[in-house]
Amino acid sequence: MSFKDRVVIVTGAAKGIGRVIAKRYCDEKANVIIVDIDYESGKKCLEMLTSSGNKAEFFEVDVSKSEDIDSFMQKVEQRYGRVDVLINNAGISVWKPPEELMVDAEPHSEAYAASKGGIIALTQTLAASYAKDHIRVNCISPGWIQTQDYDQLREIDHLQHFSQRVGKPDDIASACIYLTHGSNDFILGTNLVIDGGMTKKMMYRE
Ligand SMILES: NC(=O)c1ccc[n+]([C@@H]2O[C@H](COP(=O)([O-])OP(=O)(O)OC[C@H]3O[C@@H](n4cnc5c(N)ncnc54)[C@H](O)[C@@H]3O)[C@@H](O)[C@H]2O)c1
Repeated sequence: MSFKDRVVIVTGAAKGIGRVIAKRYCDEKANVIIVDIDYESGKKCLEMLTSSGNKAEFFEVDVSKSEDIDSFMQKVEQRYGRVDVLINNAGISVWKPPEELMVDAEPHSEAYAASKGGIIALTQTLAASYAKDHIRVNCISPGWIQTQDYDQLREIDHLQHFSQRVGKPDDIASACIYLTHGSNDFILGTNLVIDGGMTKKMMYRE
């Protein structure tokens, strides 16, 4: 499947990883719907995408509110009549380099880790439930993905990774394109870890 004219929703697309994912689907000539709670950044992202002639639309939605989601999906249904790809990227990024982590941040980190573990279990269940409808569900577990000031990173930040570099939003966007491509319909219910090998190494250096 080519992505041309496909309807692609990317949540949390105003900034960071989601913004780059949205750009990559625009490059593939998809109809990209960007969703974010941050109106100002969402509008800026939309300008960036449409100024180069891409087909994109922005909706201000809080994905933690079911009424927001219902009203958004009704509009998508009316306007496009279908959804081909949904990238559930919106979330709170609490990942920090170790020197910025505080002891009192630990409980929060545990809740964050539990929620991410839950996503893997949910992915497997949803994949099994929707397979009969030819809907594939996969998830991605990113490692350290630097969304801004990449050139400010230290040598040790890069070299501690087996990959010899910190991740970039494009690393995640490439995985989204791969997982959602029609020719990869044998891949479902999987969790793709994209972390430069860090979870095999286990320790970040200060
Ligand atoms: N950057 C990393 O190193 C990293 C690592 C692991 C996982 N992640 C995950 O990747 C995703 C994107 O991370 P990022 O670094 O680009 O974060 P980011 O903070 O730069 O961007 C997240 C976007 O989601 C939006 N958002 C937050 N809550 C929302 C809500 N309720 N409704 C709609 N939009 C909402 C924000 O406004 C923002 O535009 C997150 O789910 C994060 O947990 C990131």
